[in-house]
Amino acid sequence: MSTETLLSRRGLFMKIGILFNALVAAALGVPIVGFLLSSVTRGRADGYLSWVPLGPVSQFPEGETRMATFRNPYVTPTDGKTVDTACWVRRVQGDRFQVFAVNCAHLGCPVRWFQQSKLFMCPCHGGAYYQDGSRASGPPERGLFEYPYKVQNGLVTIQAGELPTPGSPTASLFGKKPPCAA
Ligand code: FES
Repeated sequence: MSTETLLSRRGLFMKIGILFNALVAAALGVPIVGFLLSSVTRGRADGYLSWVPLGPVSQFPEGETRMATFRNPYVTPTDGKTVDTACWVRRVQGDRFQVFAVNCAHLGCPVRWFQQSKLFMCPCHGGAYYQDGSRASGPPERGLFEYPYKVQNGLVTIQAGELPTPGSPTASLFGKKPPCAA
């Protein structure tokens, strides 16, 4: 076999190898790029900033705390019923409300409101919160997270797409920073 034939066969295999590698790189790269761009292409920012209604003011009697549900504005086609999210609404007086995330500030279990004791209780590790959402006892290091709210045209609306975290100003009571975020 001549040297020229060997070289051309080696060159052919080299080209096939490069082509194969390029195909594998494309097959792996397309989903990764799609994932990275998904937040832009799905309009995620809009969803996170939108306000959603909880119901008319009259649905929440003064001095009481009621459960309400809303559809999370950041929704994908596969989310199904999981976008229906619960929250606790406390009408303090008039148009003054507090809207609490239903999840415990410890590890996220759903808390329940007990009218008789005027406490939110967490079934997982015994965390308890006063009616204003502040910590009463148990493992949580802070009070319940709160959603920003406003009353518009007789409707209570909340900014619900972004879940509060310990460091965010909206996560604390009346705009004060929680102790753990200091
Ligand atoms: S999750 Fe609520 S006390 Fe632990």
